[in-house]
Amino acid sequence: THSSESARTNGKLSMCLLTEINLEWFGNYHQPALLNVSSLRQVAEGTSISEMWQNDLRPLLIERYPGSPGSFAARQHIMQRIQRLQADWVLEVDTFLSQTPYGYRSFSNIISTLNPTAKRHLVLACHYDSKYFPHWDHRVFVGATDSAVPCAMMLELARALDKQLFSLKVSVSLLPDLSLQLIFFDGEEAFHLWSPQDSLYGSRHLASKMASTPHPPGARDTNQLHGMDLLVLLDLIGAPYPTFPNFFPNTARWFGRLEAIEHGLHELGLLKDHSSERRYFRNYGYGGVIQDDHIPFLRRGVPVLHLISSPFPEVWHTMDDNEENLDRTTIDNLNKILQVFVLEYLHL
Ligand SMILES: *[C@@H]1O[C@H](CO)[C@@H](O)[C@H](O)[C@H]1NC(C)=O
Ligand SMILES: [Zn+2]
Repeated sequence: THSSESARTNGKLSMCLLTEINLEWFGNYHQPALLNVSSLRQVAEGTSISEMWQNDLRPLLIERYPGSPGSFAARQHIMQRIQRLQADWVLEVDTFLSQTPYGYRSFSNIISTLNPTAKRHLVLACHYDSKYFPHWDHRVFVGATDSAVPCAMMLELARALDKQLFSLKVSVSLLPDLSLQLIFFDGEEAFHLWSPQDSLYGSRHLASKMASTPHPPGARDTNQLHGMDLLVLLDLIGAPYPTFPNFFPNTARWFGRLEAIEHGLHELGLLKDHSSERRYFRNYGYGGVIQDDHIPFLRRGVPVLHLISSPFPEVWHTMDDNEENLDRTTIDNLNKILQVFVLEYLHL
């Protein structure tokens, strides 16, 4: 719509060209292990939208801008949901201060890693901060699609796949080569107006920190960014009838897996209220790049899948981006697709 178009141009949508693609990343040669029909059915049965809603999502639907009491509560919640699982997640909180239009503020990224010393990781990411807005007529901005739902989807993935992820550790007595990492960024949103200085606080800090941290531990020539096989960034998810375009040629075959998984689950009748005319993943050619937490990593050569609905949800950056306007069925379908993608990627 017109209003969302104009909001987008003064918001975070801006174009830039992809200038460098490093073709020597290990990830480019990695092949998925496709799931058979019975495994697809198992995934569809194993995920629960009502569990996600109650236990993962609802506690996140609060005001949680960086440094706020809600931010602290959201962080505690995310860590508690992960800590109780069987898989051996190693949690790290990356806290730092940064200058903002309102002076120095504190930010905390949450990094949750399986097999931290594994050579490579598939990385899923979301931002858990909500954009700061003054209260309006007693209403509070809770950023349901932006990005409480993406973070809850990651928590539900960790819960639903807990057994398989646990087996990543025990099935191989030697270190697995490839494992999984979840990143919950703080400070994605601008406090005032989107600019290179006022946005992406958490991802800018973490990308630079990872670039200067040797990986595997003790390595001389490689750092943690070399260990990121693929960064899958989820954002603006939860509105009805979303479409996700493909942005990057170097990860197009992974986008192709998402399209194929969606199609496969559809054919088996495992997606609800879903038609091929309204399919979610559409590779209709490469456009520009939407400014988001992947940018600091993309600039340093990390392969990226940016799963952001475009056009943006109609409720984007309004008080109506709340629980009431979420679409449970769509989120449930997307959970199934994402979980199959991760299992195939990790050969589980
Ligand atoms: C499907 O794959 C699973 C896991 O690899 C395997 O255990 C099962 O036997 C397969 N089922 C069929 C029908 O091929
Ligand atoms: Zn936002």
